[in-house]
Amino acid sequence: MKFFIDTANLKEIHQAAELGMVDGVTTNPSLMAREKGDWREIAASICREVKGPVNLEVISQDASGMITEAQDLIGFGPNVVVKIPMTMEGMKAVHTLRAMDIPTNVTLIFSPVQALIAAKAGANYVSPFVGRLDDVGHTGMDLVSQILSIYDNYGFETEVIVASIRSTSHVLESAMLGADIATIPFKVIRQLAGHPLTDKGLKSFLTDWDSMNKKK
Ligand code: E4P
Repeated sequence: MKFFIDTANLKEIHQAAELGMVDGVTTNPSLMAREKGDWREIAASICREVKGPVNLEVISQDASGMITEAQDLIGFGPNVVVKIPMTMEGMKAVHTLRAMDIPTNVTLIFSPVQALIAAKAGANYVSPFVGRLDDVGHTGMDLVSQILSIYDNYGFETEVIVASIRSTSHVLESAMLGADIATIPFKVIRQLAGHPLTDKGLKSFLTDWDSMNKKK
């Protein structure tokens, strides 16, 4: 299972990369807007820092604008994946970009049929947003399970990126379902290492070691 980090913050990307947890990066306009500085420089720096796919999102709403933006975005590095919103214009753009060999990730997926048509249009990745579905009283992981079944039924090669992850349970469930990728905020990556029994066990090992040395 691949881990992407869901951030445009270079410090977080660097710290997670030191842990071996960064197979790729996802950004979106909101994440970019949180950072100080020119987004173009940030995007270029992320592409230099990370070897794996770096997802950068278009702003245009019409297919031809999306295609023009995609051609600009791929200039940031050979590893750029263009994020396209799940709209009819988006599907038109994905279909054309596929023919141009420009990889795409269809974002803002909230239903299994959206994922089906994204795969048919030629998307390389889809991003179901599990946390936002949970927020409105649905079970986001059910969507991931449905998409994986559909892709398996028909042999689609589109990879599933579980997005809008809020907790370590989302990461666990993604892995149990066999999702290709989880894109995880840095805060949750840090939580993945923690367990109260690990802390307790470590503390007692160190206490026992100290008391042994005091006896000498
Ligand atoms: C994924 O590509 C998105 O950037 C992201 O996961 C959205 O998450 P949010 O619902 O926490 O904003």
